[in-house]
Amino acid sequence: MKIALGSDHGGIHLKKEIISYLESKEIAFEDCGAYVEESVDYPDYAAPVGNKVVNKEVDLGILVCGTGIGMSIAANKIRGIRAAVVSDEFSAKMSREHNNANILCLGERVVGRDLALSIIDAWLKASFQGSRHERRIKKIAKLEELL
Ligand code: RB5
Repeated sequence: MKIALGSDHGGIHLKKEIISYLESKEIAFEDCGAYVEESVDYPDYAAPVGNKVVNKEVDLGILVCGTGIGMSIAANKIRGIRAAVVSDEFSAKMSREHNNANILCLGERVVGRDLALSIIDAWLKASFQGSRHERRIKKIAKLEELL
């Protein structure tokens, strides 16, 4: 499995913690920036991560900003992306099982390091349940065709 990572300045410290965590678990990743702490714009990092996911260069993406909200709004503009902003393990699990979320968004100013890593763990362990959820995902894809 390979994960694309992205953050703005508001999420860069948590992204560094996530990198250490993924390294410790020997999970492959690609860091799409930001690489410096100065103020940047979150859509510039949501875009490469989202594109790598839809182009199947990676399996999943994780985006971090101050709240996770801006990243999720931006990433969800990319056709085929289902980005879920999450602050608890249960929602993380459900976002995979029911919504087949392919990007997890976290807020560095919302969740602490340990909770964030626990959320990531729950998200990576869960898998899409298909069945009636597949039908709903297909309806979401239909909505994208209207754009
Ligand atoms: C940056 O100050 C902040 O707006 C950004 O990280 C994010 O929280 C936006 O949703």
